[in-house]
Amino acid sequence: MNALVLAGGLGTRLRPLTENLPKPMALVANRPWLEHLIVQLKKQGIRHLVIAVKHYPEIIQNYFGNGEKWGVTIRYAIEKSLLGTAGAIKNAEPFLDERFIVLNADIVHELELAPLLAFHNQHGGGVTIGLTEVDDPSHYGVVEQDEQGRILRFVEKPRPEEAPSRLINAGIYVMEKQMLQYIPAGREVSIERETFPLLIEKGAGIYGKVISGYWMDMGTKERYRRIHWDLLNRVYPLPLLGQQNEKGIWIGKNCEIQPGVMFVPPVLIGDNVKIGERSVIGPYCVIGNDCVIGKQVRCTETIMWDRCLAHNGVVLNNCIFGYGLEIGSKHILHEAVMSRVEVLQA
Ligand code: GTP
Repeated sequence: MNALVLAGGLGTRLRPLTENLPKPMALVANRPWLEHLIVQLKKQGIRHLVIAVKHYPEIIQNYFGNGEKWGVTIRYAIEKSLLGTAGAIKNAEPFLDERFIVLNADIVHELELAPLLAFHNQHGGGVTIGLTEVDDPSHYGVVEQDEQGRILRFVEKPRPEEAPSRLINAGIYVMEKQMLQYIPAGREVSIERETFPLLIEKGAGIYGKVISGYWMDMGTKERYRRIHWDLLNRVYPLPLLGQQNEKGIWIGKNCEIQPGVMFVPPVLIGDNVKIGERSVIGPYCVIGNDCVIGKQVRCTETIMWDRCLAHNGVVLNNCIFGYGLEIGSKHILHEAVMSRVEVLQA
């Protein structure tokens, strides 16, 4: 059984970070999220992957190649135009096994496939959708199920009193290949809005199984930040790269930290980072590999991707900086989200 990873969306809500980068390549704890996902899939016994790409496909292809470095095989289903979440699956049809797993590449979660697969085997449906519970379902499509877990309908963006449950589609499915006959080829098709409702109507056996563990959609800046704060608080227990020097302070290899630098936990510092005298970093900062931070910089609640440069005296609060950004001296930035065009040449 192979896995299809949907990684072709435009990521418009995460712009400008995704202006010239596929959203799944956004760094999570100093590594592209897609890399974490591939590592997790391998641990779960999935060694053959297909990645459906459209927005800057070469960035994903150049980074992962044939997957050898990660001990998996990767093939790419490339879309000429945006085909949507179901259209992308249809386009990947020649690469897919009789039964396969589909994952949205922008969902950050503690992947545990065995219970989902066991449920799918037991119920013998056409699709088993991983479900997750959310506090406020009013922004999502909520499912209504019978006692066996069969999905009866999706209720889009319900008011609290109208919601049949607080369970939503978690963006992970087990699917039988014969279901692809219901997806039209060559045009944009949404799995949530078009394919799943059609499959329910056809009585194809669409089941939902609640998945456990941490789950968060990284689609918006708020949630992207939230994932990092959850990581630093260890609410989301993804292993962090770097040595934990003191409680809540993780520092990578070969860093040069000058005298008088203060870390206010929780803080994650990547490899080869230089920090100048009397800078104060934290709480809630994630500094990428090869970043250079000058003297007397004050940095709070900020995520900086690799190779950024913050000059002396800069004050940063609640910012997100893409690769290689330079912040001129004495700038005070609050809630800035910035990226550079140069990423394409990276
Ligand atoms: P927004 O533009 O901010 O809505 O983001 P998005 O469209 O990239 O993501 P969305 O949450 O709508 O999609 C969920 C997942 O499906 C993400 O991992 C996307 O990369 C992926 N996806 C969405 N549309 C397509 C598509 O047309 N082709 C492929 N291959 N993947 C897609």
